[in-house]
Amino acid sequence: MSDRVIIFDTTLRDGEQSPRVALTVAEKVEIAHQLARLGVDVIEAGFPVSSSGDFDAVRAISGEISGPTIAALARCEEQDLEAAIRALEPTAHARLHVFIATSPVHMEAKLKLKPDQVLERIDRFVRFARQHVADVEFSAEDATRSDRDFLLDAVCVAVEAGARTINIPDTVGYAMTDEFRQLISGVRAELPDEVILSVHCHDDLGLAVANSLAGILAGARQVEVAVNGIGERAGNAALEEVGVALAARRDVFDVQHQLNLQEMYRTSQLVSRLTGMVVQPNKAIVGANAFRHESGIHQDGILKDPRTYEFLDATALGQGSHLVLGKHSGRHALSERLERLGIAYTVEDLRQMQHQIKKLAEGKRVINDEELYRIWQSLPQSEVGNRRSSLGS
Ligand code: KIV
Ligand code: ZN
Repeated sequence: MSDRVIIFDTTLRDGEQSPRVALTVAEKVEIAHQLARLGVDVIEAGFPVSSSGDFDAVRAISGEISGPTIAALARCEEQDLEAAIRALEPTAHARLHVFIATSPVHMEAKLKLKPDQVLERIDRFVRFARQHVADVEFSAEDATRSDRDFLLDAVCVAVEAGARTINIPDTVGYAMTDEFRQLISGVRAELPDEVILSVHCHDDLGLAVANSLAGILAGARQVEVAVNGIGERAGNAALEEVGVALAARRDVFDVQHQLNLQEMYRTSQLVSRLTGMVVQPNKAIVGANAFRHESGIHQDGILKDPRTYEFLDATALGQGSHLVLGKHSGRHALSERLERLGIAYTVEDLRQMQHQIKKLAEGKRVINDEELYRIWQSLPQSEVGNRRSSLGS
């Protein structure tokens, strides 16, 4: 089995389906450029039949971005495939992503199709897609709530019809990690070696990243993710969490990807700014606090050797490490910050400043550089006066 995992980014498709997110074509193109710099293998640029904006964005991205494969989503419907094929025309690396649901509730309540009719559609539309594009992916929507034998029939029909990638979505984020791992092992065992197995997990039970990683352990070699974990309802597996876990724990996964981790933080910030979806401060990898240390004991450890409380250097992700000045901070953090700001101090200054910081930081605040400077200025004039010269003021 290949040791390379394909990173399929769906920020611009599933991610953009987040409630109240609506990106313009120009914004999608800007994000696509950043995804290319980040080194994702596939950019799912949109669902062309769903709106003229989606169509235009897929077409613009297909024309401008070289490097990653550009994917467009289509249901098993003629008009969907036709729109996707036209939108992808400008790219030399096109992928058609064809999907249909395979679970009883979706087939009966939504599609109003019998299982045999679903199999017939898979065969017909995957073949249709292959007549136009060599790279075809098939997704069995709601795979984790599908009958296992029927799911296997569906993916086998898709492979026979020419799909090169088979994607197993946990559409409603319902699977438990062990269950999902077994499902992926079972599907992998039925597929020819050259067919790539993919996973696409939603986070309704907070398991999207864990399930995606379990899928990779079970033989998936494509993982579908979104920047900052955005997406329908609770979102998709977070690109940054999956990417960094695979890199940091190669001892467990023994697979590679070609993400440039230095671009991770910048990508997260760009997506957050353009979508208006704020990244929670304690979000793993890209949250503002992910590499910040406030308690005195942690700060002391970090200053002695960052490996004490960080398994990964934050600067490797394009984000600086910060020692927060708050009510729990110790003198080490304060002296480090003063030195970085070029402020001279005595032991007595430290003592007095620390006292003031603790008072000011009550109410869960952290002290920024400006406030620190003001605290320093408020020290008795004689103390400060002796040191003004070192600041050149
Ligand atoms: O969650 C899902 O099932 C999807 C498919 C269209 C791949 O997004
Ligand atoms: Zn999805």
